[in-house]
Amino acid sequence: MSETERAVAEHYATGELLNRVFSALEATGIDPTKATAADLKAGDEFHTGGIEASDHFFSHLTITPDMRVLDVGSGIGGTSRLIADRFGARVTGIDLTPEFVETAQALTERVGLADLASFKVGSALDMPVDSGAYDMAVMMHVGMNIEDKSALMQEVARCLKPGGIFAVFDVMKGTNPDPLEFPLPWSTVPETSFLDRPEVYEEAAKAAGFQKILEHDRTEFAAAFFKKAFAAIEEHGPSPLGIHLMMGDTAPIKFQNYVANLHAARLAPVEMVFQKDT
Ligand SMILES: C[S@@+](CC[C@H](N)C(=O)[O-])C[C@H]1O[C@@H](n2cnc3c(N)ncnc32)[C@H](O)[C@@H]1O
Repeated sequence: MSETERAVAEHYATGELLNRVFSALEATGIDPTKATAADLKAGDEFHTGGIEASDHFFSHLTITPDMRVLDVGSGIGGTSRLIADRFGARVTGIDLTPEFVETAQALTERVGLADLASFKVGSALDMPVDSGAYDMAVMMHVGMNIEDKSALMQEVARCLKPGGIFAVFDVMKGTNPDPLEFPLPWSTVPETSFLDRPEVYEEAAKAAGFQKILEHDRTEFAAAFFKKAFAAIEEHGPSPLGIHLMMGDTAPIKFQNYVANLHAARLAPVEMVFQKDT
């Protein structure tokens, strides 16, 4: 593991996460022993727009039960469980943060999806999986922690079959080159934040043997989502189950900085879909 990867994994480890997720479920009136994959959605989709963003992302993708999907930087497994639950496909989640991988595995067993989704600790730049084994790879909000986009694209291409799909939803660099306000959800400091313009992703993907088939800037969606979320917090207070459980005590300022950076066009959440050459 590189120094950057160690720092990133440390950033995401907040401690006692599984117990805190179970307590949050109880506080929302859900018995953790009877929880379903759907019950976890408010807290297990650790990216801009949560499950709403995932619904949009997956509406562009065709996934069938015979497919194998790789979830690059799977966090606590929300996206992997969604793929298993909604499409019946087999999923492998890879993540740098051991606490997230343990939590992902435990939650997946708890909701009865462990025969379809499993998780391993590993780096997106050296994934512990066979070459050419996957029909599709998805990566949601991970590239912000990875400096070398070329190495990332090469490694994902290695894992995919010819013609395989790589679908990305990352926070990318916006059109305003001014420095970002920190702390942010993926990094407290600039040293472990590596936002790039969509063109950098596309260039790196091309060099790894991908063609871009789709690109959507999700800035407007994100602005509307946060407006709604902040209004709901104002009215009802924060919900016990939410992605703040993975963001430590500074979660409120991280959200505020994200939105300030978004409005100033210093960052942009972007979906991109690539296809590996056949
Ligand atoms: C913002 S979270 C997103 C998690 C998940 N994709 C989701 O959308 O719920 C970023 C995740 O990327 C993981 N990560 C960051 N850099 C990574 C790397 N080089 N290799 C593997 N995982 C990485 C972190 O451990 C963290 O779980």
